[in-house]
Amino acid sequence: MAYETIIVEVEDHVATIKLNRPDALNALNSHLLGELSVALADCDKNEKVRCIIITGSAKAFAAGADIKEMSDKSYVDMFMSDFFGGEGNAIISTRKPIIAAVAGYALGGGCELAMMCDFIIAADTAKFGQPEINLGVMPGLGGTQRLTRYVGKSKAMEMNLTGRFMDAEEAERAGLVSRVVPAKSLMDEVQSTAQKIAEKSLMSSIAVKEAVNRAYETPLSEGLLYERRLFHAMFNTEDQKEGMAAFMEKRTAQFRDR
Ligand code: HXC
Repeated sequence: MAYETIIVEVEDHVATIKLNRPDALNALNSHLLGELSVALADCDKNEKVRCIIITGSAKAFAAGADIKEMSDKSYVDMFMSDFFGGEGNAIISTRKPIIAAVAGYALGGGCELAMMCDFIIAADTAKFGQPEINLGVMPGLGGTQRLTRYVGKSKAMEMNLTGRFMDAEEAERAGLVSRVVPAKSLMDEVQSTAQKIAEKSLMSSIAVKEAVNRAYETPLSEGLLYERRLFHAMFNTEDQKEGMAAFMEKRTAQFRDR
């Protein structure tokens, strides 16, 4: 399918979705988030795709929700359209693993989009922030909720109250990103990480994603039980037999998602 605000490429079982509104630093408007939702649903259905990367440009992953689109809206407009609620749900309901490859600005909705992915690999040029407070508003797509869970109350509160940016090194220290790499090797590093994920059994990847996300939603005892039951269930799959046989036969496993 042809998109106007994103570019989608599938190679070696990895889909790369590049946000592509360079003149607006990839500001997230309804059109872009609508296209992103459709592309992610397509990736989930596409049997060739086993891992997804969302990325932007060298200057900006995304500089936030599109201020020009929002500025004249009323409360009723925002409430009745549930502004970006549907698109946000579409992103987080994607079952396959999503890596955010972030270089440059990831601000406001851009930081929130990165946090909706399963993990973030950052270039050393990345800058994260929730500057909505400077616009007389506040985050609306997870900046007060996910950022707090990633980096803790103190830093999340400071970021949200002051609008200051966090550089890549601080973001790694705080646990917002899994890894920082030189900007010039960002896409190679992310591709090779995605490739490693794509080689696993997709059933395991999806189950891991569901179980880790449960850690945010349930008490520990419930999360542990959920994890254990999923683990038990895997003993009814061919991939479990293949994975363990391959270990014992000292060869690489050939998973078939069965
Ligand atoms: C619309 C944006 C934009 C945005 C940048 N642009 N960010 N347009 N919405 N969020 C546009 C600029 O207007 C400009 O277009 C072009 O991109 C280049 O931006 P500059 O400002 O000239 O670049 P620079 O001086 O390098 O500054 C980069 C920047 C700055 C620091 C990232 O652009 C900035 O502060 N942007 C806004 C960041 C922000 O406040 N984000 C939060 C948005 S609210 P023209 O046409 O003038 O050349 C939000 C809420 C989410 O995200 C909740 C949703 C439910």
